[in-house]
Amino acid sequence: MPDDIPDHIPDSGSAHYFDVDEEELERLGSAPRDVTWTVHGSSLSAASDRGVFSYGRLDRGTAVLFDLVPAPPSHGVFLDIGCGWGAVAMSLAALSPEAKVYAVDVNPRALNLARRNASQLHLDNVHVSQPDEVHPGITFDLIWSNPPIRVGKDVLHSILDRWMNRLSANGSAYLVVQKNLGSDSLADWLRERGFVVDRVGSRKGFRVLRVTRPQ
Ligand SMILES: C[S@@+](CC[C@H](N)C(=O)[O-])C[C@H]1O[C@@H](n2cnc3c(N)ncnc32)[C@H](O)[C@@H]1O
Repeated sequence: MPDDIPDHIPDSGSAHYFDVDEEELERLGSAPRDVTWTVHGSSLSAASDRGVFSYGRLDRGTAVLFDLVPAPPSHGVFLDIGCGWGAVAMSLAALSPEAKVYAVDVNPRALNLARRNASQLHLDNVHVSQPDEVHPGITFDLIWSNPPIRVGKDVLHSILDRWMNRLSANGSAYLVVQKNLGSDSLADWLRERGFVVDRVGSRKGFRVLRVTRPQ
C-alpha cells in the first residue's frame, strides 16, 4: 500500500523552514554557506543560509530531480514552487537563459537569498517573489519543484491546486516527492483533479512525477 501524505510532520521544537518569521530568523543568525551542484552538464554555485531548506548542501530529492528530469526547452515561462535559496530556479534560468523563471516561496530569508543568488549568477531572467505577488493571469509552460510536503496534506493540496491549474495547455510539471512521504497518493490525487501523471523515474527513495493536462 502506498504511504499517504502526512497531515503534518512535527519536528523537535526547532523552526520549520517553511514558517520561520523574522524573529525566528534573527534568533537563528546567519552563516551563509556556498553549495555547488551540476545539472544537465552545467555547474552552478549559490549561497544557502540557516533557516532555509537544505542549508549547506543540495537536497537529495532536488539532486534526484536534476538527474531524472529532461533538459528544459530554450524558451517559455517557467516556475519553481518553493524555491528556497534557489537551486531549482537558478538551474532553470541558467539552462534556459531566454526563458522567464518565476521562483516563489513564503520564507523571507529564502526569497532574499534566491534574489541575491540570481544576481550573483547574473541570471536576470529569474523573478523571485511571494506566491501572491505573481500576476494571476500568468500561465506556466514548465514547472520544476521539490514541493513542501512537510506543510501537511491540506496545505500541500491547496498549493498544488493553485499552481497546477496554471499549467499551460501543453505545459509539463516535474515534481520530486519522497516515496515514504506520499508520492503515490499525491499522484492519485492529481489524477483525480484531471491531470495526467506519469512516473519519470525513482531513485534513492524519491519519485519524479510528470504532470500534464489531458490532450
Ligand atoms: C522541499 S523545500 C525545496 C526548496 C528548494 N526548491 C530546493 O530544492 O532546495 C520546499 C520549499 O517550499 C517553501 N514553501 C512552504 N510553503 C510554501 C507555499 N505556500 N508557497 C510556496 N513555497 C512554500 C518552503 O519554505 C521551502 O523553501
